[in-house]
Amino acid sequence: MRIVITRPDDGHLHLRDDEALRAVLPHSARQFARAIVMPNLRPPITTVAAAAEYRQRILRALPDGADFEPLMTLYLTDDTLADEIRRAVDSGFVKAVKLYPAGATTHSDAGVTDLGKCGAVFAEMEKAGMPLLVHGEVTDPAIDLFDRERVFIETRLQPLLERHPGLRVALEHITTQEAAEFVAAAGNTVAATITAHHLLYNRNALLVGGIRPHYYCLPVLKRETHRQALIRAAASGSPKFFLGTDSAPHTRATKEAACGCAGCYTALSAIELYAEAFEQAGALDGLESFASFNGADFYRLPRNKGSAILEKKTWVVPASLPYAGGELVPLRSGEPVSWKLLA
Ligand code: DOR
Ligand code: ZN
Repeated sequence: MRIVITRPDDGHLHLRDDEALRAVLPHSARQFARAIVMPNLRPPITTVAAAAEYRQRILRALPDGADFEPLMTLYLTDDTLADEIRRAVDSGFVKAVKLYPAGATTHSDAGVTDLGKCGAVFAEMEKAGMPLLVHGEVTDPAIDLFDRERVFIETRLQPLLERHPGLRVALEHITTQEAAEFVAAAGNTVAATITAHHLLYNRNALLVGGIRPHYYCLPVLKRETHRQALIRAAASGSPKFFLGTDSAPHTRATKEAACGCAGCYTALSAIELYAEAFEQAGALDGLESFASFNGADFYRLPRNKGSAILEKKTWVVPASLPYAGGELVPLRSGEPVSWKLLA
């Protein structure tokens, strides 16, 4: 069996830089026509000038003949000025601004400490229609890790949207029923991305029978009821939900450690993993709008012209890949995937 869909886009991707960039970019460029590229480098991409340089480095790292467009983002800090937002809008290549609550995840220490500090920036974004991409977790040590997304929505996102009702927001990599319900009920300026791993796995994958660091990401995998709510949202046909892999490479050594890094590497088999999730849900006919239309529409970009062919055919994900002087362990390493993206 084969299915043909319009070439998909990745609504949330970590490409890193330098050697790491060169190792992972071919996988995403094969899978996707475009990707929203996360700005959490060290130092973070906080200006349009830095985004322009990073964009050039990505274009230079593309394999010959690749057809892939990086869509750039800016990393919001307490000190970002409204002027930078105007420059971003004028640039044409910066498509969104990313909000990391300071300390929430990998390379987020330069993130926002208090949303109240960004009022002028949000007002400018609201005026210009520039999307805000939100890592939606509070960082309060008193809040349980598994509750951080829900508490963020209640105490940060809801009030933010009340202050800026026209702000266009993508709640990134949602992991809970509460997030799916919040987005579904919100105005049409609010959307969400969902990863393949949050559609396919619950927290048992991370913790049953031993701790499995390659299933550790942030926001962390939740219980099965939440996974089912995400599947319902993704398969609902609502234009508010779209594909964002959050593929986030780290070396094997930094994942298999006493304090391992957060991130699942899914770029190698991304669309195949989504196809599995949609097939399991009996919703394969909803894959194309989720993967190829809804994100483009949210970003007000033309839908892609080319197509991708997926064949129902089992293959085994490699145990590891070369990565920046070390090894990268992809999600499902050494295990079968039941769909194959044809060349
Ligand atoms: O698991 C994650 N890894 N979540 C994030 O939010 C960041 C990402 C990374 O950059 O490694
Ligand atoms: Zn991410």
